[in-house]
Amino acid sequence: MSSKTLERIRSGLRAAAPVGRTLVDEALHRLQWNESPQEFPADLKEEVLRRLARVPWSRYPLGMRPWLLIDALAAQVGVRPEQVVVSEGSSDLIRAVMAAVVRPGDTVVMPSPTFLLYRQNVPLYEAQVVEVPLDPAAGFALPVEELLEAACSQQARLVTVCAPNNPTGTFYSQADLRRLAEGVPGVLVVDEAYAEFCEQDLTALVELGNVILVRTFSKFYALAGLRVGYAVTTAALAAELQKMIPNFPLSVFSEIAAQVALERRERFLPLRDQVVAERGRLAARLAVLPGVMVYPSAANFLLVEIAFPKEQLLAHLQGHHHLLIADLAAYPELAACVRLSVGTPEQNDLMVRGFAELAGSEGGRRGRSQSG
Ligand SMILES: Cc1ncc(COP(=O)(O)O)c(C=O)c1O
Repeated sequence: MSSKTLERIRSGLRAAAPVGRTLVDEALHRLQWNESPQEFPADLKEEVLRRLARVPWSRYPLGMRPWLLIDALAAQVGVRPEQVVVSEGSSDLIRAVMAAVVRPGDTVVMPSPTFLLYRQNVPLYEAQVVEVPLDPAAGFALPVEELLEAACSQQARLVTVCAPNNPTGTFYSQADLRRLAEGVPGVLVVDEAYAEFCEQDLTALVELGNVILVRTFSKFYALAGLRVGYAVTTAALAAELQKMIPNFPLSVFSEIAAQVALERRERFLPLRDQVVAERGRLAARLAVLPGVMVYPSAANFLLVEIAFPKEQLLAHLQGHHHLLIADLAAYPELAACVRLSVGTPEQNDLMVRGFAELAGSEGGRRGRSQSG
């Protein structure tokens, strides 16, 4: 293709990093992406397949948006269906919000570190990110005043926060988020991908008028592979967001699976409770190891700071125990940290063993003394 043709591609897109071709090794314990350690329940899978067998696969879904799922979500959340937008994963809702709000030259304010997709999306629209650093010494607490200061001085059209935050796992209170929403000059996105693991209901924030809550079926409902996410906001904002969603965003398969999951929500509560219990057990066992510091987490993963070389830990966990965790290489401010999903009890035992072997080893001790 001639360079002239490539010049037709938006500069923000051309400047973005190319998409790498990587595949996860399915033989590994996949604890790098904050997924559910438990599979979607087998009997519910059968129910999904039974219903799927009854609908035509040759036809598009009955509505251009998954209206019946939207109705079910609205009833469950306690809002009107006009306030709910569904798309293929919350990742697509993040894109839709950016595409709806952000213009070239705009500023988007967010804390840092936070979920990478936010930082990556903004330059695609030739806008700039202003990051407000989170302080590890303050437990990555939400810097409400600094965020407000940045948003107001930049007249930011959009501010984004993940509550709980990824990759730190930090809990952010409804009171702080409300203060932020009330003070920002534009739209506030609150990404609640991990909300079920901290049991804080932020739905009331929608009444403020400028808040978009982004949620997912990928974590609590163990449906990451089927790609279903949704936003809850005012009817007026939802109507605009709907225009940014592709027609038929969900396959009939994904819509049916999400409906079954919602109908049988009670089945996922014990799975969540196990993750929360294991989160505490895993954190406590890791925290007593030399050179290991675990940050408090309100999500289904842990951020762990290590005083020994990260590469050594990653190689040891993967090489000896087939454990894959997140190296967080894309977060320079977390150079000494890794993130690991809470796994099954067996996986968590293995994780502790792997960490303990390295923390107690000669290499681990050397790394610690070098880093003081
Ligand atoms: C904070 C946050 N938001 C959104 C997502 C994307 O989720 P989905 O699978 O719904 O696209 C993730 C995925 O890990 C996440 O951590």
